[in-house]
Amino acid sequence: MQPRFTLEGFGRYVPQRVLTNADLESIVETSDDWITTRTGIKERRIVAPGEACTDLAAHAARAALDNAGRAAGELSHIYVATFTPDTVCPPAACTLQDKLGLKNLACMDIAAACSGFLFALDTAMGAVARKPDSVVLVCASEVVTSRTNWADRATCVLFGDGAGAVVLSNREPKPGQASVRDIIIQSDGALGPLLTVKGGGSAHPYKLGQTVDADHFIEMIGPEIYKNAVRNMTQVCEDILARNALTMNDVDLFIPHQANLRIMEGVAKRLRCPEAKVMITVDRYGNTAAASAPIALADALAEGRVGPGSRVLMTTFGGGFTWAAALLEFA
Ligand SMILES: CC(C)(COP(=O)(O)OP(=O)(O)OC[C@H]1O[C@@H](n2cnc3c(N)ncnc32)[C@H](O)[C@@H]1OP(=O)(O)O)[C@@H](O)C(=O)NCCC(=O)NCCS
Repeated sequence: MQPRFTLEGFGRYVPQRVLTNADLESIVETSDDWITTRTGIKERRIVAPGEACTDLAAHAARAALDNAGRAAGELSHIYVATFTPDTVCPPAACTLQDKLGLKNLACMDIAAACSGFLFALDTAMGAVARKPDSVVLVCASEVVTSRTNWADRATCVLFGDGAGAVVLSNREPKPGQASVRDIIIQSDGALGPLLTVKGGGSAHPYKLGQTVDADHFIEMIGPEIYKNAVRNMTQVCEDILARNALTMNDVDLFIPHQANLRIMEGVAKRLRCPEAKVMITVDRYGNTAAASAPIALADALAEGRVGPGSRVLMTTFGGGFTWAAALLEFA
């Protein structure tokens, strides 16, 4: 029998502290007008001192478990998509397991930058296909501001912190739950140098006593990323629609990666997706990297933008480059 891939519960968490465009005007030479017109971002959330990736993830995970009506003890796997884990070792998924009071689960991190949530979901579907009694917590959590260079106005205005989570299993979906109908994940390493955090990797190891320099933070060639993001997200959406014999008319809500409003509008326009069908959270959270997709999904549910019978198209894009698309269908 074909396994089902049921999203039983959805959760998200963003830190309390709000950083507005006006706040950024006092940090770098920028303006609310520049940030708003170039990116659509008005404000973003940033962590309190000491608040780390798995603290955000634990909040989102508990919300998703509550929403699913599941106890944490029913989980068999925890996958965390992040490029800003608490520590290089142990993996964030193991730390999160401990914070949820669990032991002996299969826990691992998925590193696919801003595309990570759909990569982790695809990996989780593999676990469910192999062992149908699996109950997988798929979490994406990012403290992007831990890798933000606050002296670089071209990047520091773009990002924010947050976490989202879903619970995936083989159960028959109940009303309000969704099935993953299809998913595509893809990458191109040749384009990796366009978006990097180099410092601390084995090719750029830390040295004792070394001063932290710019390559320990996000560096990017913004306009090149922009073009590739529009091209790849459009293509992967066209591919997933075509292989399911669907068009944008069959999609009720489109959730693109929340990096920049103009990128989202560019993809929507090429897909002939009306503005009213596009989910937008980038104005309030900025780009929360891997967390942006599940946060937007949870917000869409909370706002009543999806309900019984809704079909949702999600697409993500990130460093690597990595990109992905998924089709969800609500029971
Ligand atoms: C970053 C981005 C908003 C820049 O927009 P852009 O229109 O391409 O702007 P440019 O990089 O060409 O810079 C235009 C000018 O604005 C300036 N500028 C850059 N950041 C600025 C800021 N925060 N405030 C004011 N001016 C800024 C630049 O210095 C440049 O000035 P110059 O012409 O005097 O040299 C855009 O390229 C983008 O969104 N790229 C994708 C980035 C992304 O999403 N990354 C994550 C992917 S997951």
